Parts: sequence; structure tokens; C-alpha cells
Amino acid sequence: MTIEVLLTEAEIADEFAEAMEARDLPEKFFYWTPLSVRAWKQLGEKSHESVKPTWDALAAKATELVKSFGGKVPVISFGAGDGSKDRLILKALLAAGREVRYVPVDSSQTMLEIACAGAEDDDCDTLGLKADISSPVHLMLAADVSEAPRLFLMVGNTLAGFDPLDQMKHVAACMHKGDILIVDARIHDDDGTLEPSEEQKAFVFAPLASVGLGREDGELKFVENQDDRKAGLYIMTRRFQAARDLTMVASGREIKVERGERIFLNFRYRFTREALRWIVAEHAGLKIVGEVPAADGRFVTMICSK
Ligand SMILES: C[S@@+](CC[C@H](N)C(=O)[O-])C[C@H]1O[C@@H](n2cnc3c(N)ncnc32)[C@H](O)[C@@H]1O
Repeated sequence: MTIEVLLTEAEIADEFAEAMEARDLPEKFFYWTPLSVRAWKQLGEKSHESVKPTWDALAAKATELVKSFGGKVPVISFGAGDGSKDRLILKALLAAGREVRYVPVDSSQTMLEIACAGAEDDDCDTLGLKADISSPVHLMLAADVSEAPRLFLMVGNTLAGFDPLDQMKHVAACMHKGDILIVDARIHDDDGTLEPSEEQKAFVFAPLASVGLGREDGELKFVENQDDRKAGLYIMTRRFQAARDLTMVASGREIKVERGERIFLNFRYRFTREALRWIVAEHAGLKIVGEVPAADGRFVTMICSK
């Protein structure tokens, strides 16, 4: 297994302590520890069935999508996670006799190891890249691992964990003519089901559990607001409010949090289909060449080109 490192564990550990001190934890820390990865997997088990038909449909289209690519097909996945969705595409390409080079890009060493091992089991040429996809420089370096045309993936609602306006622009900036991007997002539904599941709570709480906090130390709050930059864009913030004075140790630094203080956990954007189309096409300047809505209407997957 080969994993190239642009973002080291020591850097992540330092950033984690700084983020704790700032009371604001970005998305990458929610997949960092084995506890977080376990919580993520338990959360994913529930959604797997609802997205499977979409992924079967994409796998069926994959060979057609890359038919103009000569030679080896580079498949570069931003925020690849365990790579389980990516592998459906890889397997379809390999089964059609295409040679593939798979590059999962993720900040989580554990996730990357799973993604690389899985693709290698399928006899796919694989290079893991440990990098920060919120950094335009890292994104560009990751994209340039292979020459265009390339198939980029940013799936499993990865876009929603970043500022989607910035992130889509950064991803679009990496793309050249002939490249294809598959990106998906959770659709905003007004069905009032804002009450988070136990699995969601365990997932967002895991980084705090890793520094010794228990659920009885405070309250988790999920709050959704409209993002005023675009109609149809919503942000769900997740916060922890300390119920008493707390002391945590992160990367050897002692961090004190007073009763009543809030720590911002990772957020999730949700989109109406129109808002997502606007971000991809008008804001980031990509062409939407196909859309695959999930059967239950909760996700949409877009196929885009430059
Ligand atoms: C919502 S998960 C999606 C995973 C996978 N694509 C799927 O479909 O199941 C987001 C992934 O992005 C990764 N991630 C989060 N923030 C990141 C960052 N700043 N840089 C690189 N990877 C990041 C996480 O480790 C996680 O694997």
C-alpha cells in the first residue's frame, strides 16, 4: 500500500488542539480517530440502502462517461472515506477492461488505509494521498497526480461539510477540459425531521469523547438556518454547550472550558436542487451534463464537466 503524505499526523494533532482552543472543530477531525471512524460507519450503515440504486446507476454509466479517455483512467476521489462508493465505479471500469489508477484523497489515515486496501483487493493500481481538501494548494497537487482527462469524485455528501461556494470553486479550478466530476449532495427537505438520530449524535460527539468528555458534560444542539448568500441554501450547525467547567487535554495541551461555553462542531449544508445547480454551474462555472436523483428524493448526484 502506498500513501503519500501532504498533511502529517503531527500537523493534524496540532490543528486539533488549536481548534479546541478556538471552540470550533472543522470537518476533518470527525474522521480522525478510530472512535470517529467507528461512529461514521454506524451512521453510514443506515444510509447505504437509500443510495445504492444511485451508485448502481452511476457504475452502469461509468464506462460510457470515460470512453473518450485514452489509456489508464485516473479516478481521483476528494474525501474518499473508506472508498466503498468509489469501488463500485472502479469495479465497473475494470470489468469493462479499462485500466484504472485510483487516487483516494483524504485527511484520515484510517479511512485512506481502508480505501487503498479495498481497491488493491480489486487489483486496482492505487495511490492514497493524505491531504487537506479544504486547501486549494492540496487540491491542485492531488488533481495533478495524473494528467487530464481525469474522473473526479466528491461524493457521500462531502461537499456539505465545507463552505460549498468556496469548495466548489476550488474543485472547479483543478479541472481541465475533458475532466469529469461526479458530485452529490443531500437535498433540503422541509419535512420537519430535524431531530438527530442517536447515531448522528454519537458521530458529532466522537471528537469530544476522544478528549475525555461524556455526554453528561453538556448538551448537543443541532440548529438549522438559511444561508443568506443564496436562496435554497441551508446550514445545520451542531454545537456542544458545557453544563459545567471542563478540562480537556488535546495533544498535551490542557484546555479549560467554562460552564455555558459553546464548542462549534462540524456543520452540514443542505441544498434545494436549484441552489446546488446554481453553485455548480453559475457560481463555479461547470457544465452539468447529467443528474441522478435518489429514488427517495433525498440526494442528487450531478455529473459535471468544464
Ligand atoms: C462525508 S465523508 C464521505 C466519505 C466517502 N466519500 C463516502 O462517500 O462515504 C467525508 C470524507 O471527507 C474527509 N475529509 C473531511 N475533511 C477533510 C479535509 N479537510 N481534507 C481531506 N479530507 C477530509 C473525511 O475524512 C471523510 O472521509
